[in-house]
Amino acid sequence: MILIPKETAVWIPLTIQTSNDELLNVTRASGEYLFDEKGEAYVDGVASWWTSIHGHCHPKIISAITKQASQLDHMMLAGMIHAPAESLAKKILLLAEGDFNKVYYSDNGSNAVEIALKIAVQFFKNNGNESESKKESFITFSASYHGDSIGAMNVSGLTYFNRIFSALRFPTKEFIAPNCKSCPFLKKPETCGVECLDSLEEELKENASQYAGVIIEPLVFGAGGMIFFETKVLIRLEFLCHSYNILLILDEVFTGMGRTGKAFAYQLANIKPDLVAMAKGLTGGSLPLAATLVSKRIYESFLSEDPYASFFHAHTMTGNPIACAAGIASIDLLISDGYDSVSKLKLQLEDFIFRLAKQFPEKIKNPRVLGAIGAFEWEEPIADDEYLNPIGKRLKQELLKHKVLLRPLGSTVYITPPYNIGARALEQIYDALQEAFRLL
Ligand SMILES: Cc1ncc(COP(=O)(O)O)c(C=O)c1O
Repeated sequence: MILIPKETAVWIPLTIQTSNDELLNVTRASGEYLFDEKGEAYVDGVASWWTSIHGHCHPKIISAITKQASQLDHMMLAGMIHAPAESLAKKILLLAEGDFNKVYYSDNGSNAVEIALKIAVQFFKNNGNESESKKESFITFSASYHGDSIGAMNVSGLTYFNRIFSALRFPTKEFIAPNCKSCPFLKKPETCGVECLDSLEEELKENASQYAGVIIEPLVFGAGGMIFFETKVLIRLEFLCHSYNILLILDEVFTGMGRTGKAFAYQLANIKPDLVAMAKGLTGGSLPLAATLVSKRIYESFLSEDPYASFFHAHTMTGNPIACAAGIASIDLLISDGYDSVSKLKLQLEDFIFRLAKQFPEKIKNPRVLGAIGAFEWEEPIADDEYLNPIGKRLKQELLKHKVLLRPLGSTVYITPPYNIGARALEQIYDALQEAFRLL
């Protein structure tokens, strides 16, 4: 049964409903492969939207889920606690190092971001300092993507994803996203003094009293085009946040859980954020679960007898025990691997991407690798609404014929497979790209 979007009862997201594209009907998954109803295997080159970091249906995660499901399926996390929630929170805090002392659960990346934003605003209110009472706005970056709920959308770059909802936006101040592989300020690494944050500092000099925080995806703007930037940008950002009394909120929904080679990308920059959002790989892509990490200083402002100083935010499925059990198994796998899989994959991706770039020097621009992320641009990006660049869709369809699933972001082709993807599957992606590039 292969349908096109308008024939299903399901409203397929991010899809033109009148397109005649066939939908892949997936019936099972294992490791780096998804299988269709005929048993054909497809390499999941993007780890199902960057979640399936240990491969699909990992036996240790499935076993943790099965065990937990028969013991305690769900309970509300208000006025009660359960062992999987407590144990996972402790593991996350250990992984995060730094000054965090609380984990606030939710069930997707957008919510984890929303929670961070609300905690940031309330932190300044709870402090009860008149001069901080207007700190309700946020500093954001043009290429950022923090999710599709209204608050998360609001702090994302103003793009095709959210432009139609502009009227719903609360005030933020957007700055050009740092991009160290193609610097908008035409700097080279040797001459760069992180000038990309100069205008942000100017804004803070004038208006820091309006801002609760700055939110950024550390080291890589993911959905905004796999744009990489150096640790020194984060280091200066942390310095500016401290200097001007605004919170540093990191969105590690994509980068967290090892994607850049450390548990969290901020650890590569050796900085201490105030709030961190994480999701995606937390359960190894098995169940929806997200978390917002809260530093001690922030949490302490909520320690008050005054009920209005409490954080009134909860989701029905918050801290679901089965999802927490999957999270524990996923973190244990990450720790026992010691990020070796990511280090190995990084070398494989470098070989892969630079080999391909040599083969198609006219077509492949800006080949780059960071941890378990490989990316390049195919031909020239179009100026506006790059995501809608038809080259991405054409490439995706061509690759499907070779049983490879990639989802280019317009002309940006990227590979973010499970960390333990086998050499054969990687080679299959390589061969498929070669074939597709020859045809296109
Ligand atoms: C960096 C980042 N933040 C937030 C989100 C939103 O997460 P979710 O789709 O789980 O709401 C995403 C999703 O791609 C993301 O990449």
